[in-house]
Amino acid sequence: MTQAPLLLSVDNLATHFFSQEGILEAVDGVSFDIYAGEGLGIAGESGCGKSVTAQSILRIVPKNGKIVTGEISLIQNGESVDLVQLDDRGQEIRQIRGGEIAMVFQEPMAAFSMVYTIGNQITEVIRLHQECSPSEARERAVEMLRRVGMPQPEQTIDAYPFALSGGMRQRAMIAMALSCHPALLIADEPTTAVDVTIQAQVLELMKDLQRDMGMALIVITHDLAVISELCDRVMIMYLGKDVESAPADVIFRDPKHPYTVGLLRSVPELGEGHSQELDPISGSVPSPYRRPTGCPFHTRCPDFIPDVCDVHMPPQIELGAGHRVRCHLYVQD
Ligand SMILES: Nc1ncnc2c1ncn2[C@@H]1O[C@H](COP(=O)(O)OP(=O)(O)OP(=O)(O)O)[C@@H](O)[C@H]1O
Ligand SMILES: [Mg+2]
Repeated sequence: MTQAPLLLSVDNLATHFFSQEGILEAVDGVSFDIYAGEGLGIAGESGCGKSVTAQSILRIVPKNGKIVTGEISLIQNGESVDLVQLDDRGQEIRQIRGGEIAMVFQEPMAAFSMVYTIGNQITEVIRLHQECSPSEARERAVEMLRRVGMPQPEQTIDAYPFALSGGMRQRAMIAMALSCHPALLIADEPTTAVDVTIQAQVLELMKDLQRDMGMALIVITHDLAVISELCDRVMIMYLGKDVESAPADVIFRDPKHPYTVGLLRSVPELGEGHSQELDPISGSVPSPYRRPTGCPFHTRCPDFIPDVCDVHMPPQIELGAGHRVRCHLYVQD
């Protein structure tokens, strides 16, 4: 099988927030690559920097935050552009946002304005990124609504967001995000706000669309079961660090980082050999303002090595076949 082309390469990204309380290193040295058409899952407990990573890629980091180091290279037609270098309110990033890279959020209400119909909003996105007449844009919007399984798209297109059910709003948001055929869709907790049946439908839908449109997907979630459904590769984050990355089947079969092992143990139906009992990771995530020295996970780690783990930040170790881990239990060959 030939390798798909590289689409996005994030290299040593650090995004920090600045406030009276100090500096919060929300994302602190994260690297990953996404190839065309591939699904990457980003998982980790609340506050580990998943959403801020997505905001950094789209250059929508809140005002009190800043990308302090790193590169985010978007590769299109053999040309690479470093998104970090773009003006976050400039023309170039606005074309990329919603054009090359689109995003769906946990709460679809946040994606829509309440005062316009969903059709107005979807056609506006289409016309911003594609040359077409208003009637062509409307046709494409109807087609996209049909594609995401919206009932009676010719009528629903004229509905206001508040008139739709949660599941329908979710579909409308996905239709809007996909209406410009993005090369990459970032879905941040795409299913947590809807009930389980709709969750399954939305996941199925995203999987179909990803396959049909050859689109790459970043799925951000607490839910490792979602990742096992949708993703080829996984990156596990802890306190702003990418502690482990690997192909999805490898992570589930052979997790290396004690944090990943703990996360899998807390999901009974996943991870062979871990299926007996629910075993949550002990302790809680430290305050991001008081990050532990050395490895950020050492305060909770069952395999803690004194004078090593609390002193030195582990380097990234390559275990082969796209499997990387930051942990002192492993040494580079
Ligand atoms: N606008 C902000 N100002 C200050 N700190 C922020 C801001 N947004 C996020 N943070 C902090 O950055 C860190 C990472 O937050 P982020 O939202 O990326 O976490 P997350 O992994 O997406 O968590 P969750 O699973 O709860 O969505 C957290 O400590 C969070 O409190
Ligand atoms: Mg988040």
